Amino acid sequence: MARILVTGGAGYIGSHTRYFLEKSGHSVVVVDDLSRGFKQAVPDGALHQVDTRDTAKLTSLMRQERIEAVIHFAAYISVGESTQRPELYFSNNVCGSLSLFEAMLEAQVKCLVFSSTAAAYGIPAKVPILEDEPYAPINPYGESKVMVEKILEWLDRYREFRSIRLRYFNACGAEPQSGLGERHDPETHLIPLMLRAIQTGKPVTLFGDDYPTPDGTCIRDYIHVSDLAQAHIVAIEHLLGGGKSDVFNVGTGAGQSVKQVLAAVEKVTGKKVPHTIGPRREGDPPSLVADSRKLQNVLGWRPERANLEQIVADAWAFAQNVTA
Ligand SMILES: NC(=O)c1ccc[n+]([C@@H]2O[C@H](COP(=O)([O-])OP(=O)(O)OC[C@H]3O[C@@H](n4cnc5c(N)ncnc54)[C@H](O)[C@@H]3O)[C@@H](O)[C@H]2O)c1
Repeated sequence: MARILVTGGAGYIGSHTRYFLEKSGHSVVVVDDLSRGFKQAVPDGALHQVDTRDTAKLTSLMRQERIEAVIHFAAYISVGESTQRPELYFSNNVCGSLSLFEAMLEAQVKCLVFSSTAAAYGIPAKVPILEDEPYAPINPYGESKVMVEKILEWLDRYREFRSIRLRYFNACGAEPQSGLGERHDPETHLIPLMLRAIQTGKPVTLFGDDYPTPDGTCIRDYIHVSDLAQAHIVAIEHLLGGGKSDVFNVGTGAGQSVKQVLAAVEKVTGKKVPHTIGPRREGDPPSLVADSRKLQNVLGWRPERANLEQIVADAWAFAQNVTA
């Protein structure tokens, strides 16, 4: 069992992954600057409030805590914000990552799992998307992730620095036993926005119903955050066991349209979702679905909670607690 540093561990996916790492017997140290995360998502004593751009602090923390591997979630994640302030995204996501990698090299820690994204593919030529689809980001957020992926490729080649890059699709849901859930501010993700519309009565805008899809709305691949957390565990254990660097998509392989999500939310909650239909958003591809067979074949991972209604039920249970 290893001693693992989780950056961004006070955020949505990082906190779930910390929870499952500890359940599997690993011991976890969390770094988060709390710029977007929540102190309550980390157990007492585990949180170090550090910005990933502080290389010196990260180096001494890794030495002091005898860290063996790192899972790196810390980043800003809003596509819209990245188009308004690209410099913020390159500073935080790229410079923050590079600073972390420098600290790791200094502290002799050479295993890393990195949170990448389907946004690395932009508008893909083929769906379901395979990992060999070329990089083609269409916004600064996606570009910042591609830049970090490329740094990792070079570090693997010249510094014996092994990494797994996980390109996630739409993370959603919550682990019912953990008390954790999705809390972004501002929230841009569909399921929490629909749940919030039910809770506040303020309509959510659904962007575009004239796409070339069966019901006219965009199709996305919704992956339960607990399945996503498990993907990080198999990835870090692969590296700790001496496995080589690689890149994997993490999704279910099944697409759900915005209208299908709406129907699932209404069925699970028993309430109508107040909504309006807006115009298409620039840069929203009609369909983004992962081909995740590589992750299944190479690392033996399986999505076990791919049922959309279950995902919504878990998210709803959390949303009701948060506002209570
Ligand atoms: N949520 C998704 O659907 C999704 C999809 C694809 C990829 N990702 C990637 O997964 C990762 C986690 O996403 P999330 O949804 O949990 O986001 P989140 O905003 O909930 O968590 C990110 C955490 O990182 C922290 N952080 C940000 N910059 C930091 C810095 N410089 N130093 C220290 N801490 C910092 C924030 O305070 C926050 O707690 C991100 O890298 C994101 O790009 C998320």
